[in-house]
Amino acid sequence: MKIPFLDLSRMEVRLRDRLKDRFSEVLEAGIFSGGKEVDYFEKSVSKYLNSPFSIACANGTDALELALRALEIGPGDEVIVPAMTWVSTAEAVVFVGAKPIFWDTNENGLLKEDWEKAVTAKTKAVIPVHLYGKMVDMKPLMEKAKNLQLFVIEDAAQAFGAFQNGKAAGTWGNVGCLSFYPTKNLGALGEAGMCLTTDPDVAQRIRLFGNHGQPLRDQHELVGRNSRIDTLQAAFLNVMLENFEGNQAKRKSIAKRYLEAFAGIAELTLPESTLEEDHNAHLFVVQTDRRDKLRTFLGNHGIGTAIHYPRIIPDLIPFASEGSFDNARKLSLEGLSIPLNPFLKAEEIEYIIQKIRTFFKA
Ligand SMILES: Cc1ncc(COP(=O)(O)O)c(C=O)c1O
Repeated sequence: MKIPFLDLSRMEVRLRDRLKDRFSEVLEAGIFSGGKEVDYFEKSVSKYLNSPFSIACANGTDALELALRALEIGPGDEVIVPAMTWVSTAEAVVFVGAKPIFWDTNENGLLKEDWEKAVTAKTKAVIPVHLYGKMVDMKPLMEKAKNLQLFVIEDAAQAFGAFQNGKAAGTWGNVGCLSFYPTKNLGALGEAGMCLTTDPDVAQRIRLFGNHGQPLRDQHELVGRNSRIDTLQAAFLNVMLENFEGNQAKRKSIAKRYLEAFAGIAELTLPESTLEEDHNAHLFVVQTDRRDKLRTFLGNHGIGTAIHYPRIIPDLIPFASEGSFDNARKLSLEGLSIPLNPFLKAEEIEYIIQKIRTFFKA
């Protein structure tokens, strides 16, 4: 059997047809930037996540950059970033001229609760990352940030559709940033992202920065850039959104099956609370000190896996930074993402389970 970690070409025929139809509609309408598909997408996300302002942009990395610019974070400022995340979180901070201050995570890769120890007179913001789709405990984080007068930018790129106490990932902080990269739970057929905020002024500034500083055509109020979403991607996302909850149910049921099947394996640490509302089951990351051997074994049996991520950010040359990042580093050495996506067939799931069990019996 050959089971890729994720194969987007497995999209079901009905969905494919709907996407093709929508492509034809956009082609006929002749509007390829802005327009009703973008408006509808922003409104739909606002409604689903209960977010007053949802501003679509070109990708999730830009969303982080636009958020930082809108909050006027730049040279001389420090921003607290977890040591384990996708590189974009740190990249965006450097791009606006600020300095990322890396802090360790807990064992599951979420910013460690004692992050306030990293705060200095220069700290302007903290970026909790809802890694693998699991939300950081937002209530205490928001309270702490408020007391310290810091902005909170949520990196919810991996957590679309996760809710904590009924409140969506990305709607807790001053700005929440989403990615619709194709592999995400809500993925485009290309690049796309979004900023969420409750503050109308911040929303307006994000829009300006992402559209050459223009509130109206040819009126430039600040030096911005082009980070608009493609109309086509918005149109595809409108179709994908209709499928979102169905896909989520599939992800959760596969995660449930894995959790039951692996419960007795002492050598394997399973991800926490994947079935809870505040986890969108984006990735299923198991941990074992025999990670590399397990990965090779599964690969030899045709099972694709991935590592999110093999290097912590402060160990990367452009971000080199000293500090104690023991949990994050352990996760980079022991974490392995096994296939979890709505395209998996029942027999494939059982095959993956069987091989993982065999490995640990050996
Ligand atoms: C945690 C995290 N932050 C930011 C991003 C950036 O999103 P994008 O790839 O859309 O730029 C991603 C996704 O790749 C991500 O996983």
